[in-house]
Amino acid sequence: MQTGYFLSFLFLPIFFEACCVMKCQRRRAVLQDTTHQYYRAVKGELFAMPCIKSSSGHMETSWFRTEEGGEETQGSPIECRTRFQVETKHSGNYTSLTGMVLHLQVLDGVATRCVESDRTSVYLKVAVSGTIPCPRFLCGNNTDVIWYKGNKPVCEMQRDLSEKEGNLTLRSVKYADSGIYFCDRLISDQGVLWTLRRAVNVTAIPSIDAPTIPEGNTEEEVELGQPHTLTCTAYFDFEPVSSRKVEWYMNYGGNMENMTPLPMEASQEKPVDVDKYEVIKAAIIKEVTLQHLSHTYTCIASNTAGNSSITVKLKRKIKEKWPSLFGYPIVSVLLVSGLGVILHLKWLEIQLIYKSHFKFGKQCEDGKQFDVFLSHVWSAPLVEVAESSTLSSRPGLSSDDEQLFPITVLDKTSNVPLEGLLPHVLEGQWGYRLCLLERDVVPGGAYTNDVVLAVKRSRMLICVLSAEYLSNSNAVFVLESGVKALLQASAFKLLVIWTGGAPTSPIQQDLPKLVQRALKVLPSLDWNSGNPARGTGNFWRSLRKILPRHRG
Ligand SMILES: *[C@@H]1O[C@H](CO)[C@@H](O)[C@H](O)[C@H]1NC(C)=O
Ligand SMILES: *[C@@H]1O[C@H](CO)[C@@H](O)[C@H](O)[C@H]1NC(C)=O
Ligand SMILES: *[C@@H]1O[C@H](CO)[C@@H](O)[C@H](O)[C@H]1NC(C)=O
Ligand SMILES: *[C@@H]1O[C@H](CO)[C@@H](O)[C@H](O)[C@H]1NC(C)=O
Ligand SMILES: *[C@@H]1O[C@H](CO)[C@@H](O)[C@H](O)[C@H]1NC(C)=O
Repeated sequence: MQTGYFLSFLFLPIFFEACCVMKCQRRRAVLQDTTHQYYRAVKGELFAMPCIKSSSGHMETSWFRTEEGGEETQGSPIECRTRFQVETKHSGNYTSLTGMVLHLQVLDGVATRCVESDRTSVYLKVAVSGTIPCPRFLCGNNTDVIWYKGNKPVCEMQRDLSEKEGNLTLRSVKYADSGIYFCDRLISDQGVLWTLRRAVNVTAIPSIDAPTIPEGNTEEEVELGQPHTLTCTAYFDFEPVSSRKVEWYMNYGGNMENMTPLPMEASQEKPVDVDKYEVIKAAIIKEVTLQHLSHTYTCIASNTAGNSSITVKLKRKIKEKWPSLFGYPIVSVLLVSGLGVILHLKWLEIQLIYKSHFKFGKQCEDGKQFDVFLSHVWSAPLVEVAESSTLSSRPGLSSDDEQLFPITVLDKTSNVPLEGLLPHVLEGQWGYRLCLLERDVVPGGAYTNDVVLAVKRSRMLICVLSAEYLSNSNAVFVLESGVKALLQASAFKLLVIWTGGAPTSPIQQDLPKLVQRALKVLPSLDWNSGNPARGTGNFWRSLRKILPRHRG
């Protein structure tokens, strides 16, 4: 079994060759009968003068053109194998050295309907089997075809091939198979056996793949009543003769069997790589209707190697404006993180504003020894405020103001600073229990402890801010303690009163960060001793509103 297989394998090429050689010889026998050879060629095609073995066994290789009347023309002979493009002038008689005559007739390919002028170029894919058809002769009796590559009969080549009714089939094409092939057909015409020699230019090309369509949308959003363009981009391997095709179809009701081509624009083709082509095909739906939404759309790209396709569905676009922004995760993340950063940076300010303006818990906590802890630094030489001498009735104030200040506190002539006026008004006139560090704290204790304790025992802290105050670290410590207390206790109040006009930034830069930030948001009042009486009246009224309500 094994040996048999091996033997048949061994003998097959020999048998094949023997068969072929026999065929070639039989063919030759036909032609050897006569000393006259009749050849026809097609104008514009390649032709090679044949090499013919004479009856004596001599190979005729040189042909001499003979003129009318049998005269040999002067000039060099034409060697057999010599290829040239056939023109009408090549028609005529040629003789060999031994006297064989070759009659050559040139057919005008365009003029005669008997020859097909196509199929004279054939591209064969490498590594697969390929067929070379002999261009057909449409008139007269066609018989056997014998193939030559160059001047060598293919049947004499050691090559796995078959010849069948004019078709030469090469199995497993190689690049070396490229070249000019001649197929000789015997045509009997009015008792003369003509050999019609046709040339086929065979080029072996790399195998190509089926086209590809990169994954695209499977669903496209459309607006009803608007036009919509379906676009399909496909990639093809290069082909010498293009078979590439990209088409759009509509599948009624999504039924893939029932496809109709869509109106399409011309393909846009461009090379994208050494041997790749990009083809873009667009189909236009002039006006999208509800019916369009129930169909599917298929783009099919195909070439000789195969096809590939994508299917698209249309979806109605939902018109969204602002909320659609939240559909994008990145936007949401940015918004949230941006908000987070702001919150992080301004958290202290937000807390202070919140605690200063919105009160929770009991307004009046038990166990508070003082209503107001007043913190100030003397900005002018100490002036003793004496009720009798400096405070007198002021005619400039309205009756409301008189009510507000039973003893009018303003006396422009004495020019008492606010630091002096405040304790007097708060305690003496409005009846608040006031805490003044220099008066109400027993000397000898640690300053910081005293301050913290005083803040703790008070319902409210009022800081009278001046340049002197902000440059006094002890005073600033009081303010800082107040801010901390405000952050901790919900019922605590803190008010700053600016005396020197607007706060000046150079002073603020030396302050603790906490105080700097708090000063921007804390409730504040402006005091300007130079103000007309009406302005100062407003100041006192505002102050009165901010102060804690009297207990009891
Ligand atoms: C070629 O030979 C044929 C037959 O021998 C003859 O009739 C014909 O006139 C010759 N043609 C030329 C151009 O010599
Ligand atoms: C064609 O020619 C062959 C021999 O050359 C002959 O046997 C055959 O009958 C012919 N056919 C026709 C249709 O003429
Ligand atoms: C010869 O090849 C042509 C083109 O490839 C084909 O149409 C024809 O059927 C083939 N003939 C035979 C007998 O195989
Ligand atoms: C044969 O075809 C190839 C590819 O088209 C071309 O490059 C070549 O010049 C052709 N040969 C002849 C002799 O026409
Ligand atoms: C696409 O190729 C498949 C085989 O791969 C074939 O059955 C089908 O008919 C082809 N379709 C088209 C439209 O060429």
